[in-house]
Amino acid sequence: MSSEKPTGHEEETRRFRLRDAEQEAAFFLPHLSPGMRLLDAGCGPGSITRGLANYVAPGDVTGIDSDAARIETALGILALEESDNLSYQVADVTDLPFENGQFDAVFANGLIEHLPFPGDGISELMRVLKPGGIIGLRSPDWDVALLHPDNTDLRDSIALRNRWQRSRGGHPDAGRMLRGQLKSAGFADVVAGSTADSHGTDEGVAEGVRYMHSILNDPELSEFAEANGWASDVDLDRMRDGWTNWSEQPDAFASFFWCHAIGRKP
Ligand SMILES: C[S@@+](CC[C@H](N)C(=O)[O-])C[C@H]1O[C@@H](n2cnc3c(N)ncnc32)[C@H](O)[C@@H]1O
Repeated sequence: MSSEKPTGHEEETRRFRLRDAEQEAAFFLPHLSPGMRLLDAGCGPGSITRGLANYVAPGDVTGIDSDAARIETALGILALEESDNLSYQVADVTDLPFENGQFDAVFANGLIEHLPFPGDGISELMRVLKPGGIIGLRSPDWDVALLHPDNTDLRDSIALRNRWQRSRGGHPDAGRMLRGQLKSAGFADVVAGSTADSHGTDEGVAEGVRYMHSILNDPELSEFAEANGWASDVDLDRMRDGWTNWSEQPDAFASFFWCHAIGRKP
């Protein structure tokens, strides 16, 4: 069976644009109040950033991302919305262009797992926080995936995705580390928790499959898989078809784990 082959940066940006603050930052929202100055690090196209801006208005919100194309998308949306407390700039979380102690709150969704040395980003976020300021981090943990009906094709493809992420310096199990990382960085009152990101409707199942296809269709992944003997083109076809076949089951359901942690700068 052949499958649709979405891939690449545009597909990722489309997916990030489906996110919002109420869903992704629910653990952090109770700690926000009007007038706070907030930084959203690794903001992508700004889907969550825009929502956060509503919770701290009239306080200023800055979204930073190291990917200029994502910041361009965020700025394009901002131009249409004419928000007066939101701005974006290209910056690396490990080398932020801000003075010490500028922000009341710093937030990052889906960022820490991409940093080869997560501590570098976290200590930089601490530096730009005011004493007493709050940090909120959220990252997935790919070792925990509930898949029904379960099968080897799906599991093999998740294992491959995780190996690939590790080979690029990322951390598929970043979620469970967040509590320890905040404590190591010196944050106080650290509290961690988790939520599940469920695919429990026809649209949700299709969205999950679209994501896995986009990973499996990435030419860099196939090169990596072949070169390392992890998977041949035939294996990749089998995995892609596995997801397509899975999505056609009437009882298809998947749930993935995300962890979060908050802490205060002493
Ligand atoms: C998975 S996306 C999450 C985007 C957004 N926070 C969301 O949840 O929709 C991760 C983002 O982090 C950005 N990123 C990766 N490494 C970064 C770094 N060192 N500094 C700043 N941004 C970074 C990527 O460009 C990407 O836009």
